[in-house]
Amino acid sequence: MRVEDLDTPVLIVDLDGLENNLDRYHRYFAEHKIGLRPHIKTHKTLAIAHQQMRRGAVGITCQKLGEAEVMVAGGVDQDVLIPFNIIGAAKLDRLMALSRRTRLTVAADSAYTVEGLSAAAQRSGDTVGVIVELGVGGRAGVPTPQAALELAQLIARSPGLELRGLMAFPTDARTRPVLQETLALLDQSGLPHPIVSGGSTASALLAHEVPELTEHRAGEYCVGGVGHLRRGTHTVAQCALRVLMTVVSRPTPDRAILDGGSKSLSASTIQDGDHTSMGYIVEYPQARFSGASEEHGHVDVSACDPKPQIGERVQVLPVHPCPCVNEHDELVAVRQGRVEAVWPVSARGKIR
Ligand SMILES: Cc1ncc(COP(=O)(O)O)c(C=O)c1O
Repeated sequence: MRVEDLDTPVLIVDLDGLENNLDRYHRYFAEHKIGLRPHIKTHKTLAIAHQQMRRGAVGITCQKLGEAEVMVAGGVDQDVLIPFNIIGAAKLDRLMALSRRTRLTVAADSAYTVEGLSAAAQRSGDTVGVIVELGVGGRAGVPTPQAALELAQLIARSPGLELRGLMAFPTDARTRPVLQETLALLDQSGLPHPIVSGGSTASALLAHEVPELTEHRAGEYCVGGVGHLRRGTHTVAQCALRVLMTVVSRPTPDRAILDGGSKSLSASTIQDGDHTSMGYIVEYPQARFSGASEEHGHVDVSACDPKPQIGERVQVLPVHPCPCVNEHDELVAVRQGRVEAVWPVSARGKIR
């Protein structure tokens, strides 16, 4: 089957672009002796996770327990990090069941989380690894190095838990002082930190500027997206994830309507100069994907010459690959116009 035979809208991944990204990022991390722990929340697809492991990933990152369950059941079961506070009996029971099937590490940023983890581990008679989340990104995480030390001490003395170190998101050279201060406090107290985990695709190829990191979590590196294209870490060819769409209407000379809207791309936008964009059209770089309703993509084609015609098909790079993939049941793997595989997006919608 060829890409022309696919009905639209359809999510495709260009295998040459995907493999190029996997090769160059995995090579970088191998050269710098930092473990790469891909975040599977981007692709949610077993076939890609297996490729990442085959290229030497130290394990995977899953934001949610449900994603981890899918990955482990699908054989990506060597080493899993869940950088999330697991709260509540239902999840804690599932977590302990999962910990019997893989080497599992979870993050915590409060005594509440740690006490829940310890109680669950004692009930099940198993041990779970825990890292302290540092609050460097304005999201979750302990607010100071001293608070990190106190939480690490609590983890270290809690039955059923094994203190494994620290994580932060995002990390770059600016996060280094907080990491250094926290590690010094742990060292003074004789606390172990075999994992010092950084994260984000934007800073991935600069991870060597934070030599304290033992590993780095990146998700979007494998397929890119409009933000990475603008930042220059990915070329158009390296932005491997695309939604193939058809022009279904040209209501005015300057407007085109595509058959994919927010239910195909997600509602994510990016500020592009003075306008907001929802995607980048590979065949028409001058076009402005200015907005979308659920099933209609709204494109300003005033700067295009020639302009796309009704019935024409275009490839759209999403602004944010992770929620875009979450809108689709399948990911069609394409190489040079030929369909090589259709992969189920197995961890789609696994938000619990
Ligand atoms: C905890 C954590 N680690 C790593 C990542 C991966 O970063 P990116 O999406 O930039 O690849 C994310 C992304 O949201 C994250 O939340």
